Amino acid sequence: MDIQAVRKSYALWAPIYDLTFGRVTGAGRRRAVSVLNGLGGRVLEVGVGTGLALPQYGAGVEVTGIDASAEMLEKAREKVAELGLRHVKELVEMDARAMRFADASFDSVAAMHIMSVVPDPERVMAEMVRVLRPGGTLLVVNHFAREDSDTGVLASLETWAAPLANLIGWHSDFRREVVLGTKGITLVEEAHLPPFGMMTLLRLRKV
Ligand SMILES: C[S@@+](CC[C@H](N)C(=O)[O-])C[C@H]1O[C@@H](n2cnc3c(N)ncnc32)[C@H](O)[C@@H]1O
Repeated sequence: MDIQAVRKSYALWAPIYDLTFGRVTGAGRRRAVSVLNGLGGRVLEVGVGTGLALPQYGAGVEVTGIDASAEMLEKAREKVAELGLRHVKELVEMDARAMRFADASFDSVAAMHIMSVVPDPERVMAEMVRVLRPGGTLLVVNHFAREDSDTGVLASLETWAAPLANLIGWHSDFRREVVLGTKGITLVEEAHLPPFGMMTLLRLRKV
């Protein structure tokens, strides 16, 4: 999808996102935020969406969120206002391919369930590394393509879920090499998450 198609699609998803895709992807958000809370400091959430992770951050972090969809961001802003989330510094409409932040602006960057949605994921990866300080942590939670040889229950589930995935602009064939091939980062941890290990958390460090 190009960026206009992404915006059009998420304008429609915004009212029902939390009850659909958002509901089955909680494990990745919980795991990533628990890592970020342990680290503290300035956190950037790229593709923050409706802000489902925002209430989970502790007082020791200062969160900035960006998203390309005004409608998704509006839902996030409602959560911040309703729940009085003082650790959220700002929520900004911005394209992750060209972020208006200086180099090394953040101690940690999180990209949860966005890498198979964004147009030009290589450019988004490079941007996330640019705005991260050296030694900082980059967390990517995503579904990655399985081996062709995998014919087990997960492969069947993916086939079954493919039409839903397409509706949300999700490419179920996204390869982890796109993330791991990015210059300037090293892999620290890889964890497979419920349900059924469908999502993976990659914990990376900027060298
Ligand atoms: C599947 S949602 C994930 C939202 C949230 N991270 C979560 O875990 O619920 C993908 C989000 O990525 C955003 N997105 C897609 N392309 C983007 C881009 N180029 N820049 C910023 N946000 C983008 C969409 O607008 C959408 O809110």
